[in-house]
Amino acid sequence: MWKGRFAEEQSDLLKQFSESVSFDWRLYKHDIRGSLAYSAALERAGILTAEEREAIHAGLREIEAEIDAGKFEFRTDLEDVHMNIEAELTRRIGKPGAKLHTGRSRNDQVAVDIRLYLRDVIAGIRSRMQALQLALVGLAGRHEDVVIPGYTHLQRAQPVYFAHHLLAYVEMLDRDADRLADCARRMNVLPLGSGAIAGSTIPIDREFLARELGFDGVTQNSMDAVSDRDFACELLGALAICGMHLSRLSEDVILWASAEFGFIELSDRHTTGSSLMPQKKNPDIAELTRGKTGRLYGNLVSLLTVLKGLPMTYNRDMQEDKEPLFDSIDTIDLTLALYAEMLAAAKVNATRAAEAVRDPLLLATDLADYLVRKGVPFREAHEVVGKLVGEAARTGVPLNELPAETYREASAAFGDDVAQVFDIPTALAARKAAGAPSAANVRARLEHWKAALA
Ligand code: ARG
Repeated sequence: MWKGRFAEEQSDLLKQFSESVSFDWRLYKHDIRGSLAYSAALERAGILTAEEREAIHAGLREIEAEIDAGKFEFRTDLEDVHMNIEAELTRRIGKPGAKLHTGRSRNDQVAVDIRLYLRDVIAGIRSRMQALQLALVGLAGRHEDVVIPGYTHLQRAQPVYFAHHLLAYVEMLDRDADRLADCARRMNVLPLGSGAIAGSTIPIDREFLARELGFDGVTQNSMDAVSDRDFACELLGALAICGMHLSRLSEDVILWASAEFGFIELSDRHTTGSSLMPQKKNPDIAELTRGKTGRLYGNLVSLLTVLKGLPMTYNRDMQEDKEPLFDSIDTIDLTLALYAEMLAAAKVNATRAAEAVRDPLLLATDLADYLVRKGVPFREAHEVVGKLVGEAARTGVPLNELPAETYREASAAFGDDVAQVFDIPTALAARKAAGAPSAANVRARLEHWKAALA
């Protein structure tokens, strides 16, 4: 590609060091798509005849079909996907192929290829996120009546519908998908036509290229266009955040699947055994998801670090953007798909949930609210109930079974109706404000998601 300037063959070690085709071959469809549009722009610019442009199109389509079929041999001595395809095109069709790179650099070529590729990838990941949301909504909908303790500090706090807990993740995934949409929107600007750094003397119609390639507009600074990868950082950031959410969901799943909690049972298909302990049924999907969050964070930090010291404009360092991107994309993609499958097959143990939620301490706050309704200031009510909780702990008598005199001694505001406080469905029904887990609210949110995700 640049033999004119050099008298000596490149070192084999350098070839090995600098090649990227072993991983950037994945961009081939988008590289070809860019070249199809670019050759049309060259025809409009009077650089190619219609026949030459047709020869390029036919040649590129042929190469694409061969790559699709796994019959194309990528050569690492041709460095990257761009040079592999161009060299093969020229080998096949001769002169028109040698004209394709007029006014173009691999700097603007790779910038457009990645954007086209990521645009498709983001659409795919967003639909995977939706599928996981649907699995969560499905699991929640099948167990609408199940109540579990909600936790803060991993200590039992207040009762919530299991569905409410699951729907919390549906909300998170919704923001994750929205972050991706936002990232795709900002990314969807055409860099092609920026050349190596300073555009080209060839009059390339960039607006035409943008239309052909489905971009919303064209970049307005050729130096910016070839040198920034902020969109890739944004994507890695969005995927890291999604990984964080999945990791937290995993922690819940791992706890719930333990004998201590026992709220869910994962299917045989989605668990693993132990080579030593015959009784084991391990939640490896959730553990690996939690573990793989490390690489999602690492990939983000890796690219940010690659970019931070680079002078304008393109520097070869930037080739290091691809492996972190591909790795995060693959990781999230498989995790989301597997998670949806695992949750769809998970069983909820309503008996264990009911046992856990029977703990009357979960309604200690409701007991204080009862006193508040009788006119007691909340701080005072908090103290009164705190004393009753202490008494229950000391005597081993459950909070709701302490003698009536104990209650009356603690506060004259307690009446005979205090027993009603400990009815869980009533306690939940009272939580009516937007976002709170009354049965009606949870039902409405389930319906909302079913419609929104359909
Ligand atoms: N493989 C290169 C990359 O990914 C393509 C751009 C190379 N440009 C250059 N001037 N060497 O960044």
